[in-house]
Amino acid sequence: MSKNQHDTTQDKPWGGRFSESTDAFVEEFTASIRFDQRLYKHDIQGSRAHARMLGKAGILNTSEVEQILSGLDEIEQTIENGGLEWNVTLEDVHMNIEARLTDKIGIAGKKLHTGRSRNDQVATDVRLWLREQVDGVSHELRRLQCALVDLAGREADTILPGFTHLQVAQPITFGHHMLAWFEMLQRDYERLQDCRKRINVMPLGAAALAGTTYPIDRNYTAELLGFDRPARNSLDAVSDRDFAIEFNAAASLIMMHLSRFSEELILWTSAQFDFIRLPDRFCTGSSIMPQKKNPDVPELVRGKSGRVFGHLISLLTLMKGQPLAYNKDNQEDKEPLFDTVDTLLGSLRAFADMMPHIQPKAERMRQAAMQGFSTATDLADYLVRKGLPFRDAHEVVGKAVALGVETGRDLSEMRLEELQAFSGAIHADVFAVLTLEGSVAARNHLGGTAPEQVRKQIQIARELLGQ
Ligand code: ARG
Repeated sequence: MSKNQHDTTQDKPWGGRFSESTDAFVEEFTASIRFDQRLYKHDIQGSRAHARMLGKAGILNTSEVEQILSGLDEIEQTIENGGLEWNVTLEDVHMNIEARLTDKIGIAGKKLHTGRSRNDQVATDVRLWLREQVDGVSHELRRLQCALVDLAGREADTILPGFTHLQVAQPITFGHHMLAWFEMLQRDYERLQDCRKRINVMPLGAAALAGTTYPIDRNYTAELLGFDRPARNSLDAVSDRDFAIEFNAAASLIMMHLSRFSEELILWTSAQFDFIRLPDRFCTGSSIMPQKKNPDVPELVRGKSGRVFGHLISLLTLMKGQPLAYNKDNQEDKEPLFDTVDTLLGSLRAFADMMPHIQPKAERMRQAAMQGFSTATDLADYLVRKGLPFRDAHEVVGKAVALGVETGRDLSEMRLEELQAFSGAIHADVFAVLTLEGSVAARNHLGGTAPEQVRKQIQIARELLGQ
């Protein structure tokens, strides 16, 4: 090293064995402070618990613990007021905070890292942070589920065409349709709660990889931090990021559901469907076409799903080649995970805010259900009740539909004699089953689309939501 070059080995907490300073670009390249500063609160939370445990175990004295705790309080305040300048030479959030603490309180600050490594520290920080995010995401999911149940309640009797292959299939109720989305989100919610159990295990005490020689009390630290228990194996504790991958998988499923839902809302707001109205405040216009009102929120949510799926693959790939235990690769877990949480929270929030205000256009949906022979299956079922085998009934109705296509009429618009020409089993009571109301009301069993069933399902949904 030339004499006039600043010797940054002196600035590094690990500089002892180094004889030249880090290459300036390598320093930038290896540092994570630009993004992991986001973990500062959880890093401080972990350090507080670690210090208290060291005190309880007699490894630090009471005065040292007190100095550390009040020093950390001050640093937290400084960061919150934007007064801490993050230093890239100090690599990451852990070393930045520790160095600041030592600047403040001296020797006691240097003792905080006793019995700990950044490896168990960072794994702990990420788990603490992610646990909080899971609770935030769950809250937004619940808000959206509540909106869907309310909407289902208001529209339990509203009829629209149900589709398969995006072709009109059978009439359904709008309430039933909203509850389908509720069910998907309910599974998403349960998945998050399940994933939370595996997040809530404490790595701290694993130290670098093998544990530590100090008489630490990991149960006490776990209790202070609200973890269910300490991790049982130190090598596993510092190295695996499966909890983050699992969360990203659960997040991907939520985004997949929101993306499907978005696609539907986008179709429904088009002039061709015109089933719902989105409030203006969730849409934007076009700079060239004055008539346009675009469903930006659902479009963006559909578009954003891709990045969350991408992060899942990033994290899986990040992990797949790593031998035990900690490797620097793991520093790359943060940006995908942060972006997944931001994208997911934003998308859920937009949906939860928007759904209470969508306005279904009952008349338009009704008209659409009248097209496409949506009660054809009802006619077939009617014939089966009159004694025809289902395959023969299917054939009869197929012919009646062909006549409808030819003459531009729905089955309910045909004369009795016309229908009777296809089967003698048809009588005047047929018209009751050919109406949209008759069709949905007849599907009155658990899981069916009848308004009565929708009301029952709403009650169950409200119980699940704790309402
Ligand atoms: N910034 C690092 C990370 O995010 C902290 C752990 C570093 N450990 C180490 N042995 N270099 O993973």
